[in-house]
Formats: sequence, C-alpha cells, structure tokens
Amino acid sequence: MHRSILLALLLTTPMPAQDGSQLYTTHCSACHAADGKGATGGQFPPLAGSPWVQGDPQRTIKLVLHGLTGPVEVAGRTYNLEMPPQGSVIPDDHLAAILTHVRASWDNGSPAVTPGMVKAARAATADRKTPWTAPEILKLHPLPAVAPPIANLISRIYPGEWQDLPDFSKLTPINVEEEHDGLISLSDADRNELVGLVWEGEITAPKSGKFIFRLDADDCARVIVNGKTVAEVRGIGPHDGSRAKQGQIQLAAGPHPIRIEYVEFRGQEAISLAMKGPGIPGWRNLSDSPIPAERPSLMVKAGAERAVVYRNFIADTTPRAIGIGFPGGVNLAYSADNLAPELIWTGDFIDGSRHWIDRGQGNQPPAGDQVVKLSGSPALADSARFRGYKLDPAGNPTFSVQLGKQFVLDSWKPAGSEGSPSFLRTLTVNGQGGPLELLLSDLLPLKITGDQDFDLGDTLQLHAEGSTLESRDGKTFIKLTPGQTATLTYRWK
Ligand code: HEC
Repeated sequence: MHRSILLALLLTTPMPAQDGSQLYTTHCSACHAADGKGATGGQFPPLAGSPWVQGDPQRTIKLVLHGLTGPVEVAGRTYNLEMPPQGSVIPDDHLAAILTHVRASWDNGSPAVTPGMVKAARAATADRKTPWTAPEILKLHPLPAVAPPIANLISRIYPGEWQDLPDFSKLTPINVEEEHDGLISLSDADRNELVGLVWEGEITAPKSGKFIFRLDADDCARVIVNGKTVAEVRGIGPHDGSRAKQGQIQLAAGPHPIRIEYVEFRGQEAISLAMKGPGIPGWRNLSDSPIPAERPSLMVKAGAERAVVYRNFIADTTPRAIGIGFPGGVNLAYSADNLAPELIWTGDFIDGSRHWIDRGQGNQPPAGDQVVKLSGSPALADSARFRGYKLDPAGNPTFSVQLGKQFVLDSWKPAGSEGSPSFLRTLTVNGQGGPLELLLSDLLPLKITGDQDFDLGDTLQLHAEGSTLESRDGKTFIKLTPGQTATLTYRWK
C-alpha cells in the first residue's frame, strides 16, 4: 500500500472509543479496588457510591489530575491518606473514559465525561503544583446535596428501668426531638443510663426489591419497617457484633415509615443500624455509629459424652472464670477469684470466636439461655485459696479450695434428663478443722418449699441432702461438716 494512502486512512478512521473499564483497572483499581469499594478491605476510600464522583464532573476530574491529600470524608468514614496526581500519566480521552466508567458503575448514576471537559479542567488548573486538600476542592465544587438517611426523623426519650423492650405506646416521653441529620444517635442529647428511646421517620427505597436491615445494640432494640418487625436484638449484652441481628423485607420503590425502639439497661450504651438493597451501594448507615463487623460464630460445644472447658473472659463473672459446657446442655462458669460457681445456664455453651479471632478482647457472654447468676462475692473467708481443678474421665470438674488446713472439694455434673436440665453438685470438706459455712448465693432469695426442697430465685429449684441451708441478710449459706458429703441439685423450673 502506498504510504500516503496509509496516512490518509489513519487520519480519517475515527479513534476507537477507549475502554474505560480496562483503563480503570490500569490506573485506579490498585488503590480503589476492582469493585470500587477501596483496596485492602476498605483501607482506601471507595468510589462505589461516593458522592465525590457524582454530580459536577469538574470536581472529580480536577481531583484525579492533581491528587488529594489530608483528611477526607467519604460515605461517613474519614480517610487521611494521599492520592498522587495522575494528570501527567493519563491523557484527556483516557481519563474521560475512566471517569465515564466510574460514574456509570456501582449505582453512582452520573452522566458521561468527555475529553473536552478534561481538557477544560486541565487548562483551568494548569498552575496547580500540589495535591488538593478536601476543603480546597470542595470550595470550588461542593458535593451534591445528599438526602438524610432517615427523613423527618424524630426521637422520643422515656425514662425507666427495663431489661427488655416495653410497650412504648403506653408510656409518655419526657422529651421529643427533631433529628435533622437523619441518623439514629445516642450522642446528641443528654441521655443517661436506664432509658428507652423511640425514633420514627422515613427511609427511601431507591428501587423495588428485598432490603436487608442489620441491627446491633447495647442493650435491646427493634427495627420496624412498614409496621413489620424486621430485626430485633433482645436481652442485656454488648454492642460488638456478637448479638447483631439481620432481617429482610420486600419494599416498593419510594418512602416507607421506619420505627426503632431501644432500651439501655446498665453499663455501655450503643445502637447501630444499617440497610442495604437494590440501588444502595454497600451498607447505608442509618445510625451515627457504624455497624460492627460480622464475626462468624465458633460455638464451643461439649462432646456427646464429655464436658468441654473454656478458659477465657466470660461476661458477668470475674477475670479468672472457668467455663464448663456439659453434655445435655447445662453450663457453668466458676470464678476462681470468688471460689464460687457464679453463672449457670442451659442450651448453647459459649461462642469462642471473639477470643480465637480477635485475640481476646472483651468478655464473652454465655451463648445459651436461662442464665442464672448465683453469686457475685467470695464464697469463703478471704484467706481461702483456689487450688485448681481436676476433671474426671467425663470431663466433670472438681474444684479445690484451701482454707487453713482444710480443703473444700466442689464437684459438678449434669443430672437432668432431656427437657429438664439440672446439675448435681457434691461438696465435701477434708483435712483438720470444724464445720464450714459456704456462700451459696448472695443474689437470689431462698424459699422453703419442702423438707429438703427450696426455690432459689424465680427460675431454680434446689434440693439439698446431707447439710443444712441457712438464709440471713439476703444471703444463703450451706453448712458443711468435715467427712460428710453434701449434695445439691439445681433444677430449672
Ligand atoms: C496510589 C493509590 C491511588 C490511585 C492509583 C488512585 N487513587 Fe484515588 N485516592 C487515593 C487515596 C489514598 C485517596 C484519599 C486521599 C486522602 O485521604 O486525602 C483517594 C481519593 C480519591 C477520590 C475522592 C474520594 C472518594 O473515595 O471518592 C476520588 C474520586 C478518587 N480517588 C478517584 C481516583 C481515580 C478515578 C483513580 C484512577 C484514575 C484514582 N483515584 C487512582 C489513592 C489512589
């Protein structure tokens, strides 16, 4: 072919359109990830659902040309990193193709960018030599206004002491507030412990489909959408993901009423709620505190024939607690500090994931139910010392405590049948000395119901043999005679 014809062909054939997706992979995905959610598990800011890439294209173009440094907030999270300028390595048509791709992907829903727009931005910022800070570029090109996550949000505050959600419709709030930022929050108002809160407002489903709501709270909470309870966190416990609940509901595109009920009992207080579904990139936070990461549960389980021991921090006992899960679904947490069984419960034993995955931060609550706290103070005189425990072939423990020249041996094993869980506890005193008095409970009232039968609190029946029980000042003691075996059967009603 003649050279001049080749040249003419090259000049007249239109340039092939740049592949924005491929150029994105080359120039951006190392830091912002192929799915736009931010590389290294979100250490870098996301472009998916980022208001920074939506609306006025000049902001995004100028940012990529010259880079960005210092604190920047993207979708409720603050990053403080540096993005190097890309202007010298990416020509106008390539950058236009990349940004067209980014703005059309991941629900960013923004129109295309032309090479002409990039050219204009380059010319307008030609003397810029350093990366932008977020305030600098936002002054030139503010972010598009975003609707509050929950529209018309109001909160009502109820004083009171609850360990579960009350019927708020029967109660009168002491305070009603408008929450203009549209986020559920415990930080704005002066909200003490022992409080109930109800928020009401409207969420918008961008498209019709199934929406998932994820809720976590310290202590209990419930989220109701369109009058239907979607997720509930019940009981007293931490806000750390271990009790978070997820539920889904079908919603038509458009606004829907949402109601969140919350109760704080004692200790820490927190609530978080997020939603996701069609038209929402990732999770949308509906609360100012983000939802804790999902943690897979790793239930510690007794064998069919053998009990299992868990040595780690257990919520609501002392730091040196020994957890034992027995076959048949009865469980015990013995405090080596207080020389006493402190918690007993039925059902699942304990979720070990916190300590195996997160390296042991915080306390793990019992995983089962009917948790009974028996006592919370030392069972014997201060001079008594914990001397360890032995397991029999079935894994049943005998705890040993020394007091002077005497040893108290405290053995536990499951005794009940399916559907009627119970424990058999055997106490003996060896060594030189007289009778001993051991604290059984300083928390639960004792009521005599028969010759050797008692109610211990509301949930337990106690049967005693070979000893006498005595209650005074709200505490129950057992009298142990050296050389004589005392047995106690704890049965859940
Ligand atoms: C070397 C890593 C790196 C590369 C490559 C990179 N970025 Fe960034 N980008 C960052 C960092 C880091 C920030 C946040 C800077 C800060 O904290 O001030 C950021 C911020 C942004 C932001 C504003 C915040 C947000 O998340 O919306 C946009 C928009 C953006 N980058 C687009 C792009 C595009 C488009 C490309 C490809 C042309 C790209 N970036 C390439 C690291 C990078």
